[in-house]
Amino acid sequence: MGGWRILAVTALMVGLLSRGAMAQAPEGEFADQECVKCHLEKSPAVVEQWRASEHGAPDQPVTCVDCHGGLHKLSAQKARPNGACIRCHDREGAIVHSYRTSKHGVIARLERVAWDWTQPLAEGNYRAPTCAYCHLHSGGHDVGAIITSRSPKARDKTEEVCADCHSPRFITTYLTTGERMYQIGLMKVREASALVERFRKTGPDEDALADMDKAYEKMKSVHLKNLLLGIAHQSPDYQWWHGHPALDGDLIRIKSIYMESAR
Ligand code: HEC
Ligand code: HEC
Ligand code: HEC
Ligand code: HEC
Ligand code: HEC
Repeated sequence: MGGWRILAVTALMVGLLSRGAMAQAPEGEFADQECVKCHLEKSPAVVEQWRASEHGAPDQPVTCVDCHGGLHKLSAQKARPNGACIRCHDREGAIVHSYRTSKHGVIARLERVAWDWTQPLAEGNYRAPTCAYCHLHSGGHDVGAIITSRSPKARDKTEEVCADCHSPRFITTYLTTGERMYQIGLMKVREASALVERFRKTGPDEDALADMDKAYEKMKSVHLKNLLLGIAHQSPDYQWWHGHPALDGDLIRIKSIYMESAR
């Protein structure tokens, strides 16, 4: 038998087997513990990845039912659109807004009605990525797998996701520029931190120090995060409006408080 025949027969068998397996999926409705128990047998990787992720936090997990609903009918379709995530990930917050102001978010918003949500989130099935396309790529349930600050493997994983739609050269350029842009953000925060500490030691007046601390806190916890999300979610708005210019504003404010009191 020629190689192509073996391939064709294997493909047919895989097709039949997977259809057979789907036919076995009981209708439900199921409670969350039932999903976990049965899928620990049927698809152990899914359950293990979910458990190891932030969503699997034992005290207050984001459950299977939260994303898929309690029935098998349409269970995957329900989880793919952005609504499944935005419901919890603050509609008005920077996480969602940075995505919405990206080209991906704009395309998804304009075209999502025409998309066939029965299809897996994979190459060729969608023109632009949804939240789940990037964070649950190829059905992986470790939603943090592409968070570079967490794991050295994340950059490879991210490149894999982008490669469904972009050329290797575009991806390398974009990600490397992003990393450099974030390093510059960190430098600005370090410069501000050094000024605040020097100011604190020289015995300044309380009000000026409180103003400085406030500006520094905002810089670190809001504007640096905006920059990170601008890079992560490819939003020029978050990179160049809510990100770097906002960090510059904070640094100028901190410097001017310092200079005023030094006079
Ligand atoms: C008694 C066993 C059993 C229980 C309970 C169960 N499932 Fe399944 N599930 C299956 C089988 C079998 C399949 C088909 C083969 C596969 O994908 O693993 C399946 C498939 C799926 C799929 C893939 C569907 C697709 O279109 O690709 C999802 C998503 C899913 N189940 C989610 C859930 C959720 C959520 C629950 C709880 C509400 C649940 N399952 C409860 C056995 C179960
Ligand atoms: C029921 C609420 C809920 C739903 C639905 C939900 N999330 Fe989450 N998500 C959380 C909580 C809670 C956390 C952990 C705390 C935090 O980061 O806010 C989290 C964390 C995350 C993280 C950070 C992971 C890390 O390692 O830091 C990502 C990424 C994420 N979710 C993506 C998604 C995506 C994509 C979807 C939709 C497919 C989704 N979430 C649906 C509540 C939810
Ligand atoms: C944050 C939302 C979210 C949570 C929580 C979640 N899933 Fe999923 N799941 C998805 C999305 C989105 C897909 C579709 C992935 C795709 O199309 O590639 C999916 C796909 C699946 C599939 C099909 C996998 C495949 O490779 O085709 C199974 C089975 C599944 N989920 C089971 C579960 C079970 C069991 C749980 C609970 C332990 C769970 N999911 C928790 C969002 C979620
Ligand atoms: C094009 C791919 C892509 C899309 C689409 C996407 N994300 Fe992300 N997201 C990322 C990357 C990459 C990071 C990690 C940045 C880093 O290295 O810390 C991230 C980070 C996050 C984080 C963690 C932020 C933190 O506090 O550290 C959350 C939560 C999140 N995304 C949720 C979402 C939600 C919700 C959506 C949809 C509204 C979405 N993402 C769409 C790629 C994507
Ligand atoms: C499902 C397909 C798909 C995936 C996956 C995807 N993109 Fe895109 N991306 C697009 C489309 C379509 C556009 C809009 C057309 C264009 O500008 O090329 C776009 C635009 C962009 C832009 C804006 C380019 C510009 O000219 O304004 C950047 C930056 C970008 N993507 C980066 C990424 C990164 C980084 C990843 C991986 C984390 C990624 N994309 C994943 C489809 C995708």
